[in-house]
Amino acid sequence: MTNKSSAIEKTSFGTTSAGQEADLYKLTNASGAQAWITTYGGTLTKLFVPDRNGKLTNVVLGFESIREYEEALGYFGATIGRYANRIVNAQFTLDGTKYTLNKNNGENTLHGGKVGFDKKIWSAERKTTSDGVGLSLKYVSPDMEEGFPGEVTVDVEYMLRDDNSLAINFRATTSKATPINLTNHSYFNLNGKPSTILDHELWIDADRFTEINDTLQPTGELPPVAGTAMDFNEKTTIGKRIKQLKLGYDHNWCLRDRSLSTPDVKLSSPETGIELTMYTDQPGVQVYSGNFMVPEETCGAFKMNYGVTLETQFFPDSVNQPQFPNTILRPGETYTHNVIYAFGTV
Ligand code: GLA
Repeated sequence: MTNKSSAIEKTSFGTTSAGQEADLYKLTNASGAQAWITTYGGTLTKLFVPDRNGKLTNVVLGFESIREYEEALGYFGATIGRYANRIVNAQFTLDGTKYTLNKNNGENTLHGGKVGFDKKIWSAERKTTSDGVGLSLKYVSPDMEEGFPGEVTVDVEYMLRDDNSLAINFRATTSKATPINLTNHSYFNLNGKPSTILDHELWIDADRFTEINDTLQPTGELPPVAGTAMDFNEKTTIGKRIKQLKLGYDHNWCLRDRSLSTPDVKLSSPETGIELTMYTDQPGVQVYSGNFMVPEETCGAFKMNYGVTLETQFFPDSVNQPQFPNTILRPGETYTHNVIYAFGTV
């Protein structure tokens, strides 16, 4: 039950360089955990959960001002859309029509294009239920935004439950057939201080991953993880085999199970004892170990490997890979996507 200590407080988060105003909502659950969310990008800026000694610890990377979010290149904590990860060569064909998108990653469209959902101002409504406090965000993406067909209405609901889990529900409807692949791009660091995540232990319930080439484009192959640095079927530290990969981890794992009731990923810090258990109904998760973080250039003061993302999603470039699960949303249908990041200690 929600008791008197739970709260939702709203303050200003300043204005964007284009003069749009953004708000910051601080959600506090009955156990004292907090989720801070701004309407700029539908972004989770802070997430405080207790460590093994009960000390509230911020477990996501974030900034204090809009300016820093505008300047950073890493999609910190943001809602990603319309299409998470890469669409190769920024094009796809749907129902016989070829669509050309804005390129923002070499030849590709990454995370929705030049001005993705991570840079939009979302409208917000508070929500209180018997098991927590939340925020419902909405954004209407116009027809042909970034080159994508259809007017798409997107709802993202964050619920901070009293059991210290953060549940995110994504929904979308469209006026024309269009590809949709939303996600949240939080970087977790369960040490709760500036440090790498190489000591974090990771478990992923997957026996295949999406193979990529040297420019991170999916090849269409789904090789087994067995016997490679991609195998996290036994809890292993992220740092143990990361050097076997050219750039570090930046891959989609094909999750074994699509029910929301069984864990798909576990991540823990030996230092604080904080353990995150992730549940999702999506077919994949992009685990990105912050390989491109260059302080002062792309990510404020954060350095390489200072955070790890767990981006639940359809497989990258599915729109050009007919053998991957279908990402096309049609008028009259509703896209739904759930992820739960549940926190405890070990
Ligand atoms: C995703 C991509 C990465 C990188 C990060 C943000 O995880 O797969 O290659 O672009 O986003 O920097």
